[in-house]
Amino acid sequence: MALWEHIRLFGYLVLITGIYNVKAWTYHYNIDINVDWKTARQWCQKNYTDMVAIQNHAEVEHLNQLLPFNKAYYWIGIRKIDGYWTWIGTNKRLDPEAANWAENEPNNKGSGQDCVEIYIKRSKETAKWNDEKCSKKKATVCYLASCSKESCSEHAECVETIGSYKCQCLPGFIGPRFVQCRPIENPQQGFVTCDGDFGVFNFNSSCQFHCGTGFKLEGAQRLRCLASGHWDNALPSCQAVQCLPITDASDGWSMNCTHPLSIHSFNSSCEFKCEEGFELKGSNTTWCDQTGHWTHKPPTCQVVTCNAVFAPANGHLTSADPLGKFSFHSSCNVSCDEGYKFRGKATLTCLSTLVLDGNWSAPSPVCEGRFNSISIKQSSSGQHGSLHCQDPLGKFSYGSLCWLECGAGFTLNGSNFTSCISQGKWSHEFPVCQVVTCNAVLAPANGHLTSADPLGKFSFHSSCNVSCDEGYKFRGKATLTCLTVACDPLETPAKSHLTCADPLGKFSLRSSCNITCEEGYTLRGETTLTCLSDGNWSAPSPVCEARQCSPLIKPSHGTVTCTHPNGQFSFGTVCEVSCQAGFKLHGTPQMECLEMGKWTDTPPFCLAQQCPHLTVPVNGWVNCSHPHSLFSYGSQCFLGCETGFEITGEPGMECSASGNWSQEMPSCAAVRCEPLSLSHLPELGPPPSMNCSHPHGNFSFGSQCMFQCDESQELSGTSQLTCTSSGYWTNSPPSCVAKKMSVGAGMLMYAAVGAASSAGLLLFGGLMFLLMRQFFKKSKKLNDSVSHLAQPFLNH
Ligand SMILES: *[C@@H]1O[C@H](CO)[C@@H](O)[C@H](O)[C@H]1NC(C)=O
Ligand SMILES: *[C@@H]1O[C@H](CO)[C@@H](O)[C@H](O)[C@H]1NC(C)=O
Ligand SMILES: *[C@@H]1O[C@H](CO)[C@@H](O)[C@H](O)[C@H]1NC(C)=O
Ligand SMILES: *[C@@H]1O[C@H](CO)[C@@H](O)[C@H](O)[C@H]1NC(C)=O
Ligand SMILES: *[C@@H]1O[C@H](CO)[C@@H](O)[C@H](O)[C@H]1NC(C)=O
Repeated sequence: MALWEHIRLFGYLVLITGIYNVKAWTYHYNIDINVDWKTARQWCQKNYTDMVAIQNHAEVEHLNQLLPFNKAYYWIGIRKIDGYWTWIGTNKRLDPEAANWAENEPNNKGSGQDCVEIYIKRSKETAKWNDEKCSKKKATVCYLASCSKESCSEHAECVETIGSYKCQCLPGFIGPRFVQCRPIENPQQGFVTCDGDFGVFNFNSSCQFHCGTGFKLEGAQRLRCLASGHWDNALPSCQAVQCLPITDASDGWSMNCTHPLSIHSFNSSCEFKCEEGFELKGSNTTWCDQTGHWTHKPPTCQVVTCNAVFAPANGHLTSADPLGKFSFHSSCNVSCDEGYKFRGKATLTCLSTLVLDGNWSAPSPVCEGRFNSISIKQSSSGQHGSLHCQDPLGKFSYGSLCWLECGAGFTLNGSNFTSCISQGKWSHEFPVCQVVTCNAVLAPANGHLTSADPLGKFSFHSSCNVSCDEGYKFRGKATLTCLTVACDPLETPAKSHLTCADPLGKFSLRSSCNITCEEGYTLRGETTLTCLSDGNWSAPSPVCEARQCSPLIKPSHGTVTCTHPNGQFSFGTVCEVSCQAGFKLHGTPQMECLEMGKWTDTPPFCLAQQCPHLTVPVNGWVNCSHPHSLFSYGSQCFLGCETGFEITGEPGMECSASGNWSQEMPSCAAVRCEPLSLSHLPELGPPPSMNCSHPHGNFSFGSQCMFQCDESQELSGTSQLTCTSSGYWTNSPPSCVAKKMSVGAGMLMYAAVGAASSAGLLLFGGLMFLLMRQFFKKSKKLNDSVSHLAQPFLNH
C-alpha cells in the first residue's frame, strides 16, 4: 500500500505546496502498564490522534527503532470486523498485499483472536504482525497527526509524513494561481461562451460552441480545461450545412449553380434552363437552405406542342413528329387532291415560340377547286365590251373578281361584277352589253323613210334617210344618226377617290360617278353624280373636308400650342400642353386629332406641385393657407408654440415651385429657467438636497424641484420651486438652517414662506425678499447668487 493512500485515512486537506515543519506526525507509547486493545485505543484517542496504523516499510522500521522492547509487545490499529481485517481509522479492509504478518499468521489460534500486535525488537520476525485476543494486555503505541483543518488552505490536501506533513495542490492548482488553458476565440460562422469558477480559460472552466444559421458544429460541443492546462478536446469548427448534390440533368434541363460557401452547401443556389423547344415545369431556381435541403425539386422540361393540324378539304396531310405528335420540330406536309389547287404554304413546322396565333410556321393551307374558264370566255366573247378581272390566286380561280366594261353605244345588262366563289362557281350570272336604242323615227307625211341599222333597229349607229314624195320639198336634214351625249370630264376632288360606271362611254349620257373621301375626311355635297341628257352633271362636284375633333381648351395654369395642317382642330392637328412653373402636368402632354375625329388621349391637366404634408409639432400648432390644394405650391404655413414653449427657428414656411418647403419644420422647445444649483451658497450652511422632475427638459417650463434638509436642519424658504411659462422660477431657492434658531426669525421666515407659496405670491414677493434679506444679514452675508436668482421674481 502506498503512503499516499494511507494518508487519505486521516482525511485531512491542505493548501500550500512545499513542506512546512510546523508540526510533526509523532509517535507516543506507554509501556508502564499493559492494557487490552480497547483500553489502548481509548488512551490513544484521548491523548493523541489514534492507534498507530502501519503501512510502509520505512514506518515499520522507524517504529522498531523508536519503541523500547516490551515482552507483551504492542497493539496496533487493525481489527477483525465482520470476518475481515480492517484499518480502524478508515474502516477500510486490509489489502492482503499490504499485510505484514509473521510466518503462519494470522492463525486464528483458539477463538476471538480479533486484534493485532506488532513484534517490536523481537529476536525473530521483528516488526511483523500477529493476531491476538483483544482482551490480552499489551503496551500501547499511538500517533499524533500533524495535519489539521488549518494546516493547508482550499484546493490543497494535507499529506502526513513521518514527523511532518506537506500541503499538496489539488490537480488544476499551482500555489495561489490556477492552471490556465489556451484562450479560445469565436469560431468562424459561430460563437463560443466560456465560464469557470476559477476564471475563464482557467482550470475547470468550460466553453460551449454554437454555430450560425446554416452551419453545423464539427467536433465536441463543449471543451473543459484540464488540470494539465490542456483542453479535453480539439477545437471544433462550424461547417456549412450540406445539401445532397442535384442528380444530373435527365429531363433535358441544364443548370448553373453558384456556391458562395462551399459546393452543394448552405446558400448554394442553382438556376435551371430547358433546351429550346421545351417548356420548364416547376421552379427554375433552387436554394440550399439552412436545414440542408433544397428548396425546390429540379424541374421537368416538356416539349412545346402546337395545335393539331387537320388535312384541308380536298387535300391530305402527312406529318413527321420526331419529339411527339404536333410537337416542337414536327413538320406537316399538305397536298391537294387531283383538280384542286393549293393556297398557302405546303409545309408547316412547329416552332418553339408563338408566331401569329399559334406556333406553326405558317397558317394552315387550303385546297380550292379549279375554275373552268371556258364558259366565261364564251360569255365575254361579245365585241361590245371588255372584260376586266382581278385574279389573286390565278386566272378565274377562287377569289377572282370580274367586271365587264361596255363600249360606246352599249349599256350593261345584269350585275356589274361577279366573283369566283368556292367549288368553281360564279357569284352572279355573267352580264352582257346591250346596244343603246333611239326613239323610233316615222316617215313624215308626203315622204318616206329608209333606214340602215347595223346594230339593231333604231339603235346606236343606225341612220335614217328621209325623201319627199314627188311635188314636195324637203325641210330639215335628210339624214339622222343615233349618237351619244357627253358631259364635261369630272376632276377628282382633293383627298377623294372617283369611280365611274360609263355605260355609253367615258363621262357620257348615263355615266354615273361615285366620290368617296380618304380616311379622316368627310364629304360635303352629293356622293353620286350622273351625266344627264342635256350634257350636264346632276350636281356640282362635292369636296372632302378634314374631320373635326372637339376644340381643346387650355387647362388652368397651363398653355396649349397647336399646329393645324388641315384646319382648326381637324384630322392631323397636333397640340402640346405645358404647365406653368409650380404646376405639374398629369396625363400625356402631346395630343393628335385622329381620322375618326377623336383625340389620341384625354386632355392633360396641371396640378400644383405637392410638398410633403406637414405634421403639427409637439406642443405647437400650425396655421396654413392653401391657394391651390393642400400642402402644395404656394401653400404657406405659420408655426406657433403653446404657452411655455418657444419656437426654434423661423415660424413661416412656404411650398416652393419645386415642391419643397422653404425650410425644415421648426419645433417647440420648452422655455428654459435658470439652472438651479445649491452648491454655490456656502455661507448659508449645508445646502438642502434637491429633487427635480423635468417633464420638458432640464430646468425648463414645468420643471419642479423639491428641497429637503437633513434632520438637524430645517428649511428656510419654500420647499418647492416650479419653472413658469415665462422662464422664471416661482420663488428663490431655500436654504437649511439649524433648528435652534431664534423663535422670532423662524416664525417670521415661516410666515413669509407660507404666504409666498399661496396665491398671494406676487404681492408678498417683495416682502419676503426683504425678510429673507434681514434674516440672512442677521446670520451671515447674503450671497450674490441668491439675489440674482430672486431678481426675476421680484421684477414681476
Ligand atoms: C470542476 O467542475 C465540475 C463540474 O462542474 C465539478 O463537479 C467539480 O467540483 C469542479 N472541480 C473543482 C475543483 O471545483
Ligand atoms: C451562370 O450564371 C452566371 C451568373 O448569373 C452567368 O454569369 C453565367 O454566364 C452562367 N453560365 C451559364 C453556363 O449559364
Ligand atoms: C446566405 O444568403 C443570405 C441571403 O442571400 C445572406 O443574407 C447571408 O449573409 C448568406 N449567409 C452567409 C453565411 O453567407
Ligand atoms: C390663421 O390664418 C388666418 C388666415 O390667414 C388668419 O386670419 C388667422 O388669424 C390665423 N390664425 C392665427 C392663430 O394665426
Ligand atoms: C424624487 O422624487 C420622486 C417623486 O416624488 C421620488 O420617486 C424619488 O424617490 C425622489 N428621489 C430622491 C432622491 O429623493
